[in-house]
Amino acid sequence: MAGVRVLPCTLAIFGALGDLALRKLFPALYQLDREGLLHEDTRIMALARDQGDGVKQLEHIEERLRHYVPKADWDEAVWTRMRGRLGYRAIDFRNREDYTGLAEDVGETSPLIAYFATPALVYSAICENLAAVGLCERTRVVMEKPIGYDLESSKVVNDAVARFFPEDRVYRIDHYLGKETVQNLIALRFANSLFETQWNQNYISHVEITVAEKVGIEGRWGYFDQAGQLRDMVQNHLLQLLCLTAMDPPADLSADSIRDEKVKVLKALEPITADQLASRVVLGQYTAGYSDGKPVPGYLEEPNSNTESRTETFVAIRADIRNWRWSGVPFYLRTGKRMPQKLSQIVIHFKEPPHYIFAPEQRSLISNRLIIRIQPDEGISLQVMSKDQGLRKGMQLRSGPLQLNFSETFKHLRTPDAYERLLLEVMQGNQSLFVRKDEIEAAWKWCDQLMDGWSKMGDSPKSYAAGSWGPLTSIALIARDGRSWYGDV
Ligand code: BG6
Repeated sequence: MAGVRVLPCTLAIFGALGDLALRKLFPALYQLDREGLLHEDTRIMALARDQGDGVKQLEHIEERLRHYVPKADWDEAVWTRMRGRLGYRAIDFRNREDYTGLAEDVGETSPLIAYFATPALVYSAICENLAAVGLCERTRVVMEKPIGYDLESSKVVNDAVARFFPEDRVYRIDHYLGKETVQNLIALRFANSLFETQWNQNYISHVEITVAEKVGIEGRWGYFDQAGQLRDMVQNHLLQLLCLTAMDPPADLSADSIRDEKVKVLKALEPITADQLASRVVLGQYTAGYSDGKPVPGYLEEPNSNTESRTETFVAIRADIRNWRWSGVPFYLRTGKRMPQKLSQIVIHFKEPPHYIFAPEQRSLISNRLIIRIQPDEGISLQVMSKDQGLRKGMQLRSGPLQLNFSETFKHLRTPDAYERLLLEVMQGNQSLFVRKDEIEAAWKWCDQLMDGWSKMGDSPKSYAAGSWGPLTSIALIARDGRSWYGDV
């Protein structure tokens, strides 16, 4: 992860006319090109089922690119260079013959990166066909989530890919790992002995991880209703944040050292038994409410919805990690759609000092917190106690932040999108920011037991009004331990 070597490759995007490619991948490639991080020999091949010679399709890609790249970043010279790298090929992903032309396009020189921005259903066919035309040996494959629906189905997808590609050439995306502040968590923890010495059950009382989204389902009802917030967000993004927060220091920054430590955390997650579900897990579904002061429909009133759906759009969980470092320290996870604001943050609550010497009425003030803000306003702030100023104040305490505000410090620098970082890492052949097979399986295993228990219980998700912080029971979940969610207003 230290320096950047700009290496040539051919990047083949399967599903190049889909939402992910248009919204995220092409804009990320544009930014990399703009930053001089694409080698002059790097080529990009857009592959999709849409028949034609590519003129119309490439125009569409350009039109979307101009839409998604911020105006201030648009530079005709960069686009002209990127256009020169870009080609289109109509391809039926299941049809072997279509791959012969692809192999000719790729040629023999640079490594091939096959980016699967398609439903996981066709990953296996793509792999088989790439192998059939001799495009396996120097190929890295990039897989988007969702990889499966549960442990069983994720194994089917992973095993199908593993028949053709060894694990060291498989890159599973969890785009949260590409976010700048998420990587900063590694720097914060392991480049500062100050924190690492305190990072355990002796000093930390509990940890909160919140990933709140303001948006609703945004036209993805069909997909989302099959998944729900637990599979769509907890199984991947929240558990990855938990792993990076809770893992032991890795021996080095190599992909396997980091991933070995993350897997240990996932394996140490305590299963939530049927009789604990009601007190440790809250599932919710939003009803009509307000977002930014405007009325918005409930989940069951969204376009194309099934009004009987019991899919959750909100999850709160008390998770516990069974190891020496974290014994007795709850990790409260919370994520939902249609919350009051977009906010992803990790809050580490430190324990009170062992012996209290200040005025009793100030006791509730005492609490050091480390807040790692992932988005928006990326930054780290440490809430510390100090003395309030003034002769009349005596030893009156006040809580104030020591701030490291990245959006402010680096305000002259653009915050790169997660996909820019992730594409760059694949091109460099570095797997640290990608999820290993055993990691994804351990995460599914934990989520599966939770979902199984939940469906046996037969409860419906609790309602919450769009624009609120979730069902009231999620407040009760943390209040049961004498605590409250940090910063809720
Ligand atoms: C995706 C989920 O993985 O992450 C979406 O499928 C969610 O449902 C998105 O909206 C959130 O990502 P971000 O980067 O906007 O926090």
